[in-house]
Amino acid sequence: MNKKILLSGVKPTNRAHIGTYFGAMKQFVDLQDEYENYVFIADYHAINQLKNPAELRDYSWNLILDYLAVGLDPKKTVLFKQSDVPQVCELQWIFNCILPMAYLERAHAYKDAVAKRQEVNMGLFCYPVLMAADILIYDADLVPVGSDQKQHLEMANDLATKFNNAFQPLFKLPKAKIMEEMLIMGTDGGKMSKSKNNMIGLFEDEETLRKKIMSIKTDSKGVEEKKHSEEDPIFALHKLFSHKMIDELRDRYEQGGIGYKESKEILFANMMRYTSGFRAKRAELEKDPDYVWGVLEDGAKRAAAKADTKMALVKEAIGVR
Ligand code: TRP
Repeated sequence: MNKKILLSGVKPTNRAHIGTYFGAMKQFVDLQDEYENYVFIADYHAINQLKNPAELRDYSWNLILDYLAVGLDPKKTVLFKQSDVPQVCELQWIFNCILPMAYLERAHAYKDAVAKRQEVNMGLFCYPVLMAADILIYDADLVPVGSDQKQHLEMANDLATKFNNAFQPLFKLPKAKIMEEMLIMGTDGGKMSKSKNNMIGLFEDEETLRKKIMSIKTDSKGVEEKKHSEEDPIFALHKLFSHKMIDELRDRYEQGGIGYKESKEILFANMMRYTSGFRAKRAELEKDPDYVWGVLEDGAKRAAAKADTKMALVKEAIGVR
């Protein structure tokens, strides 16, 4: 039986943080046996923010290392760079021609940029169209993304429907898999986000990680005081990294008897333990760049072959062939 297709991408505009891992990468790894998996580096989406080639190369390289280090297996997952499949840009053009501007003017990211009086380039304006092309060209059934991407998935569905009605029913309607809004807390006690300077990197070096954890903002309750586990940013991170002792930790919070300092030390130790396998794998991969480039080359071929098959049908349907 044919497996369903999973597709997703991450923009290489930053180093992966623990939100990127739990929100995106971990889902790709967990589902790679069940689905035919396509996972890419969204570098064409990144240039709409990043205008520094050295940085873009560096983030892209780090992202492929991260994907492999956390367990994406090139035998099960097609790993590639978005820019290695330029067919998506062709499809984006075709989509541009069937989408009214007024529709794109409703996009949150565009409206935010306008409200903040930021410069809006065409890349930002057409971001959802390129993303729809990414998704639809591979016949994706399932697209795991963060909750901020919900509208983009709705737009991909609308575009597929519009094309199917205007020409031929060539596109599947993709389903979003929106990660449960787990509170992935940052060092300031607020939600971890690239736009706030509060991220904890997935591969932070040991000393930096220790410092960041020890600096997480908490309230000022003393060791013996009762604490609300659900309101504490350290406890939110324990839920991700301290499964085995979570009940014990919750009791000690609710009954009093654990200080924030001890809780942070336990968290640090558990985070190091959780990521130790990833770190070892990553160090190994760094020593073998030829292998890593080979994975991307092979992925590009497989993704492009799939995209070509789809584009042949699209071109026929619109009449350029
Ligand atoms: N917009 C996504 C993000 O910022 C990245 C992305 C680009 C993507 N194309 C995609 C995600 C296609 C899923 C499917 O996280």
